[in-house]
Amino acid sequence: MSADNFIPKPYSHSIENGSVSVQAPSNIALVKYWGKYGEQLPQNASVSFTLSECRTETTLHFEKISRSENFNFEVYLDGKREESFEPKIQKFFERVEKYVPFLKEYKFKIETKNTFPHSSGIASSASGMSALAVCLVQLENQLLGVNLSTALDETRESQLNKASFLARLGSGSASRSIEGPLVVWGVHPEIEGSSNLFGVKYPDAVHENFSNYQDTILLVDKGEKQVSSTVGHDLMHDHPYSAERFKEANNNLAKLKTIFKEGDLSAFIEIVESEALQLHAMMMASKPYFILMKPNTLEIINNIWDFRRETGSEVCFTLDAGANVHVLYPVSEKERVQKFIVEQLAVFCKNGEYIHDQCGLGARLIS
Ligand code: DP6
Repeated sequence: MSADNFIPKPYSHSIENGSVSVQAPSNIALVKYWGKYGEQLPQNASVSFTLSECRTETTLHFEKISRSENFNFEVYLDGKREESFEPKIQKFFERVEKYVPFLKEYKFKIETKNTFPHSSGIASSASGMSALAVCLVQLENQLLGVNLSTALDETRESQLNKASFLARLGSGSASRSIEGPLVVWGVHPEIEGSSNLFGVKYPDAVHENFSNYQDTILLVDKGEKQVSSTVGHDLMHDHPYSAERFKEANNNLAKLKTIFKEGDLSAFIEIVESEALQLHAMMMASKPYFILMKPNTLEIINNIWDFRRETGSEVCFTLDAGANVHVLYPVSEKERVQKFIVEQLAVFCKNGEYIHDQCGLGARLIS
C-alpha cells in the first residue's frame, strides 16, 4: 500500500457546518520509535500499550467557506485561545491536505482539553494529534456519505488506518493511539499487516498476563521538554550507533512476539527496561549529547530493582524522552505495587504527583 491510497475519491455530499467530538489516549512505547526519515516514516518498528486515563478530548467545529488560499482555524485549550499550538496544527494541515482535500473549504475551531495536567511533562502530541485525525476522518465520512452504523468491517478498518495515517503525519507516536491495547507501527517482517504508514492493532496471540496491564506515571520533572522530539529524532542522523539501534529495536519486537504469546513476564521486563535505557543511551551518545534523566529518575529505577529483588514482583519501568518514569505491572499485582508506589516512590515525584493508568482501547467518538 502506498500513501496515495489515502487520497479520497471525490466527495459526494456537501456539509455546511457542524462539529465532531473525539477522545483519544496517550500511549507508552515498549519498543521505542527514535529516528525517522522522509515524511514521518520510522526507522524501526515500535510497539506500545495504548493508555486509557491520559487522554485528549477534542471538538472540531466546522463551517463551510469559499475555498481560501490559507488554512482557516483557531485552537482553544481549556476554553482559551492557544496560539502557541497553532504552528504545529498549521504544519499538520499542510502535511495532510493532500489526503483530506476539504481543509481549505472550511473554517475550523478546534477546542481541546487534556485529562492530565498541561504541565505534567506528559506529551499531549500523541493523544492530541490522534484525536484531531479521527475528527477529520469523521468529517470526511460525512462528505463521502459513509454511514458508519451500516459500514462493512473493511470500511471500518480502512477508516482506522486512515486516522492512524493522518495522526502519524502530525506526530509519529500518535499513529499508535487510534486503537488498543497493543499497537505496532512500522513495517516488521514478523508482524503481519505492519506498515510504516500507519499503526495496526497487534495481530498475534497475547497471553492473559498482559490483559489490563497497569501503568503508573511518576511525574519527576514537569517542565517543558529539554529536547523536542523533532530535535531528538534528528540526532539519530549521523549517529554512531543508529544502524545498530534500529536493528536491535526490530530484534526486540521479534522477541516480544514470543513473550506476548507465552506470557513470560521476566523476559518482558528485560526487553522493556533495556529499550528505555537504549533510548536514553542514544541521547547520551548523540552530538550534541543530552541527559534527560534526573537524579530522582535513577532513584526510582533503583528502588524498583530493589523491590523486585526483595519481593519477586514483576514490576518494571520504562521511560519516554524525559525524566518521568512509567511503572508497568500486571493487574494481578495492582494492590501491592500501588502500595509500593505510594510508600516508596511518590517521594521522588514533583509535589508527590503520579497518575494511575492502564491499557485501553484507543480513540472513540464522544456523543
Ligand atoms: C520517545 O512521536 O513525539 O516517545 O514524530 O517527531 O512527533 P514526532 O515524535 P514523537 O516521538 C516519540 C518518541 C518516544 C518513543 C515512542 O513513543 O515510541
